[in-house]
Parts: sequence; structure tokens; C-alpha cells
Amino acid sequence: MEKKRLGVLVSGRGSNLQALIDASKKDDYPAKVVVVVSNNPEAYAIERAKKENIPVYIVKREDYKSKKEYEEKIREILIEYKVDLVVLAGYMKIIGKTLLDAFPWKIINIHPSLLPSFPGLEAQKKAWEYGVKISGCTVHFVDEGIDSGPIIGQRAVPVYDDDTPETLADRILQEEHKLIVESVKKILTEEYEIVGRRVVFKKKGAENI
Ligand code: GAR
Repeated sequence: MEKKRLGVLVSGRGSNLQALIDASKKDDYPAKVVVVVSNNPEAYAIERAKKENIPVYIVKREDYKSKKEYEEKIREILIEYKVDLVVLAGYMKIIGKTLLDAFPWKIINIHPSLLPSFPGLEAQKKAWEYGVKISGCTVHFVDEGIDSGPIIGQRAVPVYDDDTPETLADRILQEEHKLIVESVKKILTEEYEIVGRRVVFKKKGAENI
């Protein structure tokens, strides 16, 4: 099986990147990480990529006059590595038109809440402060909004009375690692349509019923 090629954008710790790298070592996993781009030169994700001999590029927003030029650089890298899918794994910048147009419905993001609740930054803390009893994580296609694109998959976790934002974030993160791996596999191996804002997976053989 020829593995599909993932380009992963990161800004920090890179534990979701690591989950994808680990999954891709299994022969039957349908994808491999071929390039990593970080906007943050201090990101620990960079060390993780280097350790696996995955090419890693640091592209800093401050080094470009406009968001367009910044994203053109990232686009150039992703095209050079012939990526089939772009994964935002803790990438803390909003994707603009340049990348959206270059990879239509080929960019996915992992977010640490059950969207559409708590989009944006510090989602785990917002959920904890709000007092929800269930939270979780979401993988979705990226559109022009903030954490607003069609949902591919979600996983839920309980929120306990003695949780802190940190213990809740840790519990969600464990599920993120599973969700990112299963979501990438699902969209690369199953047929689906985006209907309105719903991602509808077609059951194999359903057309014959
Ligand atoms: C993860 O919790 C991810 O869901 C979140 O940042 C963390 C990155 O962790 N992303 C966002 O909040 C995006 N809006 P990681 O670097 O260890 O994968």
C-alpha cells in the first residue's frame, strides 16, 4: 500500500504530531508524515520531527510582510513535498485564503473541545470555567472561520468536580491522540461527501442495497 503524504503544521509541544508519527510506523496505517512546518522556532515538535529524520521547516510570520507571503512560503513547502493532506496539530495561527485555496478541503485541524462549543484559544479552560460535565476534542475540516469547519470526528471525556483546567486538558489530550490518528485514517480510506456543513461517510456497498 502506497502511503498518503501528510504535511503537519505545528506551533508547540507536538504530541499530536508524535501520535501520527507513531501510527505511521505500522504497515497498515495509510499515511506518513513527510514534512513538518513550525511557525515557532522554540516548538518541541521540531525536535520530534528531527529525531525521526522528517524534514522540518521553521517559517516565522514576522519574517514576511504579509500573511499572504507567509502562507505562500508554507504553500511552496507543502507542494514541494507533494502532500495529500495538511494536518494542523497544535498550529496556533488562523489559516488564510492562500492555503485554503491551495488545499481545498485538504486541511484538517484538531481542537480540544466538543465543537461548536468553545472555539478559539484555551478551549479546555473555557469548558472547565463554564462547568460542562462532558468535554472532549474535535477533528474538522478547516474553512475560513475559527474552528468552524465541517466535523470529521469527536471524542468525549467526563469532567470531574475535582478537575483543574490542567487535569481536564490532560484527559482530553489522551483522546486527541486517538482521534487524530483515526480521523486521518478515515478520511484517507473512506468515501465521504461534504453536504452543507455535514461530513457524510458513505457506507461501503450501500449503493447496492
Ligand atoms: C492540543 O490540545 C490541540 O488540540 C490544541 O493545542 C494542543 C497542541 O498540543 N490546538 C488548539 O487549541 C488549536 N486551536 P500538541 O502540540 O502536543 O499536539
